[in-house]
Amino acid sequence: MQIEISKIPVQEAYQWMVSLVAPRPIAWVTTLSSTGVVNLAPFSFFNVFGANPPVVVFSPTLKRDSTKKDTLIHIEHHGEFVIHGSTEPDIEAINASSASFPPEQSEVAALGIQTVPSVLVKVPRLADAPFALECRLRQIVPVGDGPIAANLIIGDVVMMHIDPRILDNDGKVDPRRLRSVARLGGEHWCRSTDLFQMVRPG
Ligand SMILES: Cc1cc2nc3c(=O)[nH]c(=O)nc-3n(C[C@H](O)[C@H](O)[C@H](O)COP(=O)(O)O)c2cc1C
Repeated sequence: MQIEISKIPVQEAYQWMVSLVAPRPIAWVTTLSSTGVVNLAPFSFFNVFGANPPVVVFSPTLKRDSTKKDTLIHIEHHGEFVIHGSTEPDIEAINASSASFPPEQSEVAALGIQTVPSVLVKVPRLADAPFALECRLRQIVPVGDGPIAANLIIGDVVMMHIDPRILDNDGKVDPRRLRSVARLGGEHWCRSTDLFQMVRPG
């Protein structure tokens, strides 16, 4: 089977892309509105891309009516955000926070999620997250201008918060304790419980 992208509708391209490139990690992102409302939403167009400096990229796409999502609007305004790990205990809340809340309503307040102040950015972080990455905006790269068009938010990680409960006895992250979840196509999610190890060739 072959599909030439220019011959299919955007929505179909989206379904193929998210079903084929899977699983994708989920950034659970807090931002702050210009009136001080804490916004929370998940984004699976997300990954890390280097460590010198540590850099993350995620993409709040344009909505079906081509308008911007609140997360993008807030980052354009303030240039700060916090990315949290998405793990098994939080799957219901992660999913619930993706609903279309009006900008003046805080997802954290509506869902009863506790926040605490961050250290280097003004955006609060989630108190019980397994880890939180305080980020400062480096660059926004809009790609396209219609529904589901990408907005690559490139951010420098300036501060990491790591819950010691996800660490092993050597102080390294234990994936069995972290229990990351990820997104696949359609309504599929997955756990990171079927682990194996391989030694890299020298
Ligand atoms: C697991 C999951 C992953 C998602 N990933 C994305 C994504 O990568 N990009 C995107 O624009 N929306 C994504 N969404 C939808 C957004 O979370 C949703 O549009 C949300 O309402 C945006 O919130 P905001 O307007 O407060 O920024 C995802 C939803 C879920 C449940």
